[in-house]
Amino acid sequence: MSKKIYTERFDISGKVCIVTGGGGLLGMKHAEAITEGGGVAVLLDIAPGGMERVKQKLEEEYGGDCKVECMVCDITSREALEGVREKLLEKYGHIDVLINNAANNPKVEGGSKNLGAIRFCNFPLDMWNQDIAVGLTGAMLCAQVFGETMEKQNSGVVLNISSDYGIIAPDQRIYRKEGIPEEEQTVKPVSYSVVKHALMGLTKYLAVYWAGKGIRVNTLCPASLENGQDPEFQEKIGKLIPLGRMSDPDEYVCTILYMISDAATYMTGATVVLDGGRTIW
Ligand SMILES: NC(=O)c1ccc[n+]([C@@H]2O[C@H](COP(=O)([O-])OP(=O)(O)OC[C@H]3O[C@@H](n4cnc5c(N)ncnc54)[C@H](O)[C@@H]3O)[C@@H](O)[C@H]2O)c1
Repeated sequence: MSKKIYTERFDISGKVCIVTGGGGLLGMKHAEAITEGGGVAVLLDIAPGGMERVKQKLEEEYGGDCKVECMVCDITSREALEGVREKLLEKYGHIDVLINNAANNPKVEGGSKNLGAIRFCNFPLDMWNQDIAVGLTGAMLCAQVFGETMEKQNSGVVLNISSDYGIIAPDQRIYRKEGIPEEEQTVKPVSYSVVKHALMGLTKYLAVYWAGKGIRVNTLCPASLENGQDPEFQEKIGKLIPLGRMSDPDEYVCTILYMISDAATYMTGATVVLDGGRTIW
């Protein structure tokens, strides 16, 4: 069998694909998905180190053919985003995909530093404001700035990265540590849940708003990426997941490529949940 009728729809050759927070753990997987599809991965991150690591790894994995741009950019600044847009339009003339992936992602699982201060009743307002600014306002600003170009093109894809915590509340029991008082127990902060739920509102609003403009907008909910967490934590969280384990970051790549490519032309306003079944239990 050699003829392929449908799988060529996954080809995104030459498409300019922006990934916010591109230097982080999942940033690498977005960049791999874009590269496998033949697109140009444009990584935006506030810190250059992670992006350079992603670029180096892609060049090792895929050879010199991969197209990766690294741009230091604070996505909470509209001015900075407009600067990125200008540079990309000058070089490529189009912007095709936006993956709103950046978030303040506090690691509170086993082995992490105890963050007593983030318990709900004394959660600092400035931390709330910063988390909303990056995860939610940043996504909205990116959609405004890059969406303006997509509107003019009459084509584009926006993929908002939420979480299983955009669907369910964190089960704070898995973050508990033995032998420390209640008021010092670590919790997943409230801002994380609020940002991740709100992104789905942004998705649905924009999916309808841009339905006639050739712009598709969807949400992907990843969950519990395995990243060297201690075995005790992995065991606790595994019991909450029907598949019984955390996810391997590689398990997101094909879905990301599907959602940003023409393989998914009828998908808009949707939430795709990759969580090993956690939210159905
Ligand atoms: N890791 C998980 O288990 C998990 C699970 C579910 C959902 N998610 C979601 O996936 C996304 C990526 O998570 P991750 O684990 O790769 O996180 P990460 O912390 O590894 O990466 C986030 C990146 O965002 C960047 N960033 C922060 N503020 C920024 C700003 N103002 N401007 C530009 N970049 C900024 C950081 O420098 C970092 O490189 C997040 O939205 C997260 O909520 C992650």
